[in-house]
Amino acid sequence: MYRFGVDYYPEHWPEERWPTDARLMQEAGINVVRLAEFAWARLEPRQGCFDFAWLDRALDVLGAHGIQAILGTPTASAPPWVMELFPDAFKVLPSGHRQTYGNRVNHCQTHLGFRERGKIITQAMADHYRDHPGVIGWQTDNEFGSTCYCPACQASFQDWLRRRYGSLDALNAAWGTVFWSHIYTAWEQIPVPLETGGVPNPGLALDFARFTSDVNVAFQQEHIDILRQTCPGHFITHNLMGFNAETVNYFDLARPLDFVAWDNYPRGFWNPRPEVDPAAAALGHATMRGVKNQPFWLMEEQSGAGGWHYQAVTPRPGEMRLWTYQAIAHGADGMVYFRWRTARHGTEQYWHGVLDHHGQPRRRYAELKRIGGELKRIGDRLLGAESRPEAAMLLDYDTRWAWRIQPHHEGFKYTQYYLSWFKAFHARNIGLDIAAPEADLSRYKLVVAPAVYVLSEAEAANLVSFAENGGTLILTARSGVKDEANAVVDLPLPGLLGRAAGAEVEEYDLLPGGVSVPLEFKLPEARTAEAEWWADVLAPGSAEVLATYAGQYYAGRAAVTVNRYGKGRVIYVGAFGGQPLQDVVAQWTAEQAGVKPALAAPAGVEAVTRWHGERKLLFLLNHGDAEQFVTLDGVYEDLLAGGRVEGALRLEPKGVRVLSEG
Ligand code: GAL
Repeated sequence: MYRFGVDYYPEHWPEERWPTDARLMQEAGINVVRLAEFAWARLEPRQGCFDFAWLDRALDVLGAHGIQAILGTPTASAPPWVMELFPDAFKVLPSGHRQTYGNRVNHCQTHLGFRERGKIITQAMADHYRDHPGVIGWQTDNEFGSTCYCPACQASFQDWLRRRYGSLDALNAAWGTVFWSHIYTAWEQIPVPLETGGVPNPGLALDFARFTSDVNVAFQQEHIDILRQTCPGHFITHNLMGFNAETVNYFDLARPLDFVAWDNYPRGFWNPRPEVDPAAAALGHATMRGVKNQPFWLMEEQSGAGGWHYQAVTPRPGEMRLWTYQAIAHGADGMVYFRWRTARHGTEQYWHGVLDHHGQPRRRYAELKRIGGELKRIGDRLLGAESRPEAAMLLDYDTRWAWRIQPHHEGFKYTQYYLSWFKAFHARNIGLDIAAPEADLSRYKLVVAPAVYVLSEAEAANLVSFAENGGTLILTARSGVKDEANAVVDLPLPGLLGRAAGAEVEEYDLLPGGVSVPLEFKLPEARTAEAEWWADVLAPGSAEVLATYAGQYYAGRAAVTVNRYGKGRVIYVGAFGGQPLQDVVAQWTAEQAGVKPALAAPAGVEAVTRWHGERKLLFLLNHGDAEQFVTLDGVYEDLLAGGRVEGALRLEPKGVRVLSEG
């Protein structure tokens, strides 16, 4: 059954309302809800006194309407009594200030007392619901990713370092602590990178990022151990945050889960966007598919305008449906919307759900009901379909953390740069997987590894052998710069990738804000692009020059090269630049590598494929406000509208087609 649901908070509403909610949900096709991830205070009102009666009643009401539940382990927001037990469990911020009660995730995840309370409530819930027919699975906590700088975390960090390095000599050597006389002579001297400590040693800062990720992963594991033991019949998932979140290594967080889910808010919130960026959402989906290499769920798909103290733009008519099918196109096998009804109280008073505060069904409910009806009909034909892109992008958390620690340039944002590479292919309807540094790349024709700044020997070998065996690899400036300790390598750049690139970085230049250097491409069609932020001046060895700089003292010198390497080739893009640069390189490289779009379609129409064996599913998504026409490449069954289609097909504004080949 295709799971279609909402995030529901029965504890926010009078019990008399629950049957109305359940009826409206059922009428909209809902068959699952996520419950209780913030209900600790209701489930354990006082230490050791559990109250599941209300949740049992809610499950009964929902169950009577054919709706089952995913329960959250409620540790992301602790009741006051828990925090009162452990004043030292409040999280310490980078400023060194200890938080006080009032928000959520106010706690430190290494605090033993807090963790114990978390295990107790999780165990109690697991014991109570293990055999409940209304419960199908669990969500651990909520959106992991907290960082804490408290003394307990400092001590855990020191232990973590001891395990990683074994001796202080090894740590001092790896971090190069002789610089500024930071040589540590006792583990207890090692600080956490508080802002009050100034700009930290890059080695220490990277290890702290790794440690923080491990803390989150270990915290989750405690809940998973309990749930696996007690509820073997239930699945376990977590709601991740797509591509943008970066405090936790999502490959690690995802490993022990049955599948991942994520929270997608295409219209943004803190910085409301007048326009939705479909590529950004697609990157989120691809990342979530990539962390486990399998389909995923949406645990919070936007259904209304975001808002805490500020408010954001409300989804336009048709967007909820368009985003739903975009998610499914990229691999979503479950759709849960945030949230059922907009809360009257609390910080998220203006975070709108399907229903407004008054609880009456209106436009967004009607749209949900339409989608629910559709998925009831066709959902099962989509479940479990495989995504098989011919191209991939490498995602390396060490690299992301190292970019956060040293962004190089005020105007340069690594994640934006990464997105612009994704966009360059996405705009051409070329599907991309997001792959771990150690992933088996042999199934791809093309791999983009944007600025893999921290490069282990194993990762370098993986990339090099991909090219050697016939793959086309795109590398960029600032690749292979650092070793795993975040120390700069003592090789000419791009370090371990130098031989494969067939070019050496002779020197490099930072381009201050507003300064750009035109690039001249030696490609058949005239193409223009500019270097911004960064320019590697390349000395090509075996590589051919694809573009040169047309400015600065390095005018005429190589900026982009291509090297035949083994059975494949390596493109080295020595300049950072905006979208046009990535577009030129992506277009040329995809042609060279023989990577095909899902379908040639007008700008703004996204075409994505999934596969059931040899049968192709083709999703067409019109993100624009004008109608569009696409020309199909074969005969398809139109799953939504029914009937067979071929040739030219009309897509209404925000329109969707789900087609099955044959
Ligand atoms: C998510 C979170 C939800 C809710 C929502 C709107 O990040 O998981 O609990 O807070 O955002 O703010």
